[in-house]
Amino acid sequence: MNQNSSTLFILLSIFLLFFTKPSHQQSNPRLSKAFTALQAWKLAITDDPKGLTSNWYGPHVCNYTGVYCAPAPDNPHITTVAGIDLNHGIISGSLPEELGLLTDLAVFHLNSNRFKGKLPDTFRDLKLLYELDVSNNLFSSEFPPVLLCLPSLKFLDIRYNNFHGKIPPKLFDLTLDAIFINNNDFQFNLPKNLGNSPVSVLVLANNKIQGCLPPGIGKMAKTLNEIIITNAGLSACLPNEIGLLTELTVFDVSFNNLAGSLPESMGKMKSLEQLNIAHNKFSGKIPEIICSLPRLENFTYSDNYFCVEPKSCLKIEDMDDARNCIPYRPNQRSAEECRGFYSHPLDCSAFGCLPAAQPRRSPPPPPSYHHYP
Ligand SMILES: *[C@@H]1O[C@H](CO)[C@@H](O)[C@H](O)[C@H]1NC(C)=O
Ligand SMILES: *[C@@H]1O[C@H](CO)[C@@H](O)[C@H](O)[C@H]1NC(C)=O
Repeated sequence: MNQNSSTLFILLSIFLLFFTKPSHQQSNPRLSKAFTALQAWKLAITDDPKGLTSNWYGPHVCNYTGVYCAPAPDNPHITTVAGIDLNHGIISGSLPEELGLLTDLAVFHLNSNRFKGKLPDTFRDLKLLYELDVSNNLFSSEFPPVLLCLPSLKFLDIRYNNFHGKIPPKLFDLTLDAIFINNNDFQFNLPKNLGNSPVSVLVLANNKIQGCLPPGIGKMAKTLNEIIITNAGLSACLPNEIGLLTELTVFDVSFNNLAGSLPESMGKMKSLEQLNIAHNKFSGKIPEIICSLPRLENFTYSDNYFCVEPKSCLKIEDMDDARNCIPYRPNQRSAEECRGFYSHPLDCSAFGCLPAAQPRRSPPPPPSYHHYP
């Protein structure tokens, strides 16, 4: 996450959580609407083992556990509900339409509960909603279209639910700072406009994503800090444009079907600290320039088919080259398996992802595998 936005999240959260509970709230129409919303929600709650909502009665909603009030942004003399935080509540139930009455809500934190169903369409009225975290619940709808029309949304976290279906490409045109949609049942191709997203953190892991990383990812050069797409069914070769991501510190595409050699252009990813490409079908020579990246601390490339490993790779603080085809290294694949793999030539353009003009072939196998124990 870039520093400005993470500082802003933290400041906003601290502000809402600790400094905004006036003890004398004059009731006003906004608090009355909030009362209606929260009472409807209380009725939709079927189990609250920690009793977080047990004091949710009476008109003074700012005193409810997990409800945070603040002066309204458009009128500092009016107190309004600005935040809800019921993280780790283990509460069961659903979200009623009435929650759309909380029109001044900036922060909605509901992680680690057991809410099911869908997000209400009335969330479209939450024009000030900045952080939405409903992670680790039991929501099970398609991607909520309402999330595409929240003008203030910056932080979107819906990971660890049962959301399914396609991800609308429009998600990547929004001016978000962070997208966490990992550990759901989404099934989609990474769209061509992925690179339009100005996020600093993009986590798509543990969904069913077919196809390739689009070359347009290079457009995220100035903003992207972390991308994690592990265990998602990605295939094809990495586009050369990946090397444009000079601010990226974490790149994790482990447990996919990515193939081909690593682009030399990755040697320009000068901020890279964590590089995990384990459990793919990468092959050929590891570019020396990647292992010499100045900040690289952890390079995990086990379970691939690399056959040449520059010495500089062995000097990385934390590296794992197990189960490749590297002569003289311990714990490699069998000579037979490596020969079998390299007997099928690879053409990156055959995946239909890269422009046909730039196929990258794996180099031929090393001269022999008879050194294996
Ligand atoms: C709200 O809580 C504060 C302190 O917890 C208490 O002093 C105040 O009386 C409460 N207000 C109402 C109206 O219940
Ligand atoms: C290096 O990365 C791998 C893969 O992500 C991880 O399993 C390992 O714990 C990391 N090592 C350290 C010291 O963080």
